[in-house]
Amino acid sequence: MEDGVPLHPRLILGIESSCDETSAAVLAEGRTVLSNIVASQLVHADYGGVVPELASREHLRNIVPVVREAMRAAGVEDYRHLSAVAVTEGPGLAGALLVGISFAKALAFAADLPLIAVNHLEGHIQAVLLEAELRFADVSPLLAAVVSGGHSHLYLATRDEKGLWTYRNVGRTVDDAAGEAYDKVAKLLGLPYPGGPWMDALAAHGNPEAVPFRFAQIKHKVRRTETPGTASPASDVPVAPLTDAPRFDLSFSGIKTAVRRYTELHGMRDRVAEREAALRAASLATAKPSDPVALNRALQLLDAQALDLIASFQHAVTGHLTRTILAAAAHFGARAIAVSGGVAANRELRAKLGAAAGKLDLPLAFPSLSLSTDNAAMIAAAAWPKLLNGRFAGDALEASPSLRLG
Ligand code: KG4
Ligand code: ZN
Repeated sequence: MEDGVPLHPRLILGIESSCDETSAAVLAEGRTVLSNIVASQLVHADYGGVVPELASREHLRNIVPVVREAMRAAGVEDYRHLSAVAVTEGPGLAGALLVGISFAKALAFAADLPLIAVNHLEGHIQAVLLEAELRFADVSPLLAAVVSGGHSHLYLATRDEKGLWTYRNVGRTVDDAAGEAYDKVAKLLGLPYPGGPWMDALAAHGNPEAVPFRFAQIKHKVRRTETPGTASPASDVPVAPLTDAPRFDLSFSGIKTAVRRYTELHGMRDRVAEREAALRAASLATAKPSDPVALNRALQLLDAQALDLIASFQHAVTGHLTRTILAAAAHFGARAIAVSGGVAANRELRAKLGAAAGKLDLPLAFPSLSLSTDNAAMIAAAAWPKLLNGRFAGDALEASPSLRLG
């Protein structure tokens, strides 16, 4: 059974609705993804960010067809053939979470199934292990980084003898999340939302050393953080709260300000409105940079100076992430590193961490691109050890918009 799926595998239906993706997935024996349906909400593209009210409305519209499609694609004919329903409890948008939780509760009640509550951040971490053949391997303690539009956290994850994971937060952003910084800088340059994938694709066409963004590093016995900027004096540095344990905190708002300052100093602001209009006219606001035609069009609208700025930003941000993750892994004697969240899709981050971890002989895992962003397979994966250990949620389960992990 360790090596394959048994004749009557235990199936978990996972449901995720914490932000702007409505997703449902069916997982067999905690390891085989039978289906993973994701409906992304395009309505937010015009607003440069997720609009909570619109997100809830879209989730309401999508939840039933998405769950039905996940069941159909997995070949599961009856909800009673499932072993449990798992749902994201938080963190996320209250109204968005509520749609998934209400649906999961009703389904669990109607089909007489146990309900499992999953922390979205744990889901991101378990998505990595799910694919990396590390799921049941001896990787504890694991250094897990969750870097997305809403979060930038480092956790030390430990698995007990029952297979249950516990998490300790050993670092977080002191200001913006990494993906948020990507999105804000992209917006500053007139690129579509979400900007991360665009910046990543465009960075390859610029000079990463053109603008020397620096992350000043402070080492302190009880606190450790880096803060970015083109030249920040030590007194400007935001510090993590005092704790007894060393911290491996991140900071992204300084570099965002430095980019803004750079665009102002170099007269790049005027071209932004022009570029935004041109991108809209070329219908690129909803296009993806993975579409070569769309990417080419965007490249034509950016000059060398903008491309150099994008490449330099990406170079600095991925360097900051790589150094901090490696320092935390070394400090805690981690046996592997897992990186997840939307920013884990970043090519330069993957290459830099890959090269560094390779030198240290440290297993490093990223989810595939489809499991990097929000999805329900990760929720079902995180629910598996909870199912085995009877960790079920009661009828009183509610959305926890600010739920923390560790
Ligand atoms: O995990 P996710 O789908 O949603 C949450 O925020 O929970 O992450 C989305 C974030 C966005 O900020 C997006 O711009 C960023 O991840 N992102 C990237 C890349 N792909 C997505 N950032 C940098 N490089 C990428 N390739
Ligand atoms: Zn997420």
